[in-house]
Amino acid sequence: MGEPGPLAVVTGGSRGIGRAFVLEAIRRGYRVVFSYRHREADARETIRRASELGGEAVSVRADLARPEGVEAVAAAVAARGAASLLINNAGVTEECRLAEMTRETWERAVAINLTAPAFLAQALMPGLATNRGAILNVSSDGGVAGSLHGPPYGATKAGIIGLTKTLARELAPEVRCNAIAPGPVATEMWFAIDVEVQRRVVERETPLRRIAQPADVARAGLDVCSWPDATGIVVVLDGGRIM
Ligand SMILES: NC(=O)c1ccc[n+]([C@@H]2O[C@H](COP(=O)([O-])OP(=O)(O)OC[C@H]3O[C@@H](n4cnc5c(N)ncnc54)[C@H](OP(=O)(O)O)[C@@H]3O)[C@@H](O)[C@H]2O)c1
Repeated sequence: MGEPGPLAVVTGGSRGIGRAFVLEAIRRGYRVVFSYRHREADARETIRRASELGGEAVSVRADLARPEGVEAVAAAVAARGAASLLINNAGVTEECRLAEMTRETWERAVAINLTAPAFLAQALMPGLATNRGAILNVSSDGGVAGSLHGPPYGATKAGIIGLTKTLARELAPEVRCNAIAPGPVATEMWFAIDVEVQRRVVERETPLRRIAQPADVARAGLDVCSWPDATGIVVVLDGGRIM
């Protein structure tokens, strides 16, 4: 038996972009621990597809809105060794206009989109440093240019860019930290928004007139993590929408 591969951690790996990150990491020789909130069958499907690729993915059920969820992910990682890669992918839109926003929607978005990535990075940092690893935070082009999904999403996706740049400074030279900021990606999150808005964004606002596939984002993200000179960068992958 050869050496086990390096360990990657992906939050929200049960479906969408997170599942694509898990599978792309497996293709690149990582073992993967991924988290999900409650969609057990989807998590099992990610594991099945990883094993079809000849790799090993294990899941941990964890609600990242709560500190215990972050602790559960960190414990699942610790049981398997030190991480070389952390992909903070799990996110929620909490779709609303300013007038409808409640404390609850705001605080949920902050907890899942911003607080969990920061504390997961803190928990995994010693291992990432030992392995001279990398962190990839999943933002959104809405975090760069203002969001269609409303204040909680726009603010937290901008916040994670600030976190990325801060950690890039603080954790260098041992750990690199970058962000990817996709535009529309073909997942449940995108298809949940108003069809007219989808059409306007893709047909009128996006020069390339396409929505990305989750695998496109995963390949780009894993590429960025492999660039030895990249830290603190934000790769906007949105068909030219906000260039
Ligand atoms: N799709 C887009 O157009 C788009 C564009 C730009 C950025 N993004 C960003 O890309 C990331 C992934 O988006 P996606 O489209 O793949 O989303 P998605 O299809 O809605 O999947 C969300 C993932 O996050 C998990 N999750 C949700 N709430 C959670 C919680 N409280 N605790 C733990 N896990 C939780 C879900 O677990 P369950 O399956 O168990 O529910 C699922 O694995 C997000 O950060 C999103 O903001 C997406």
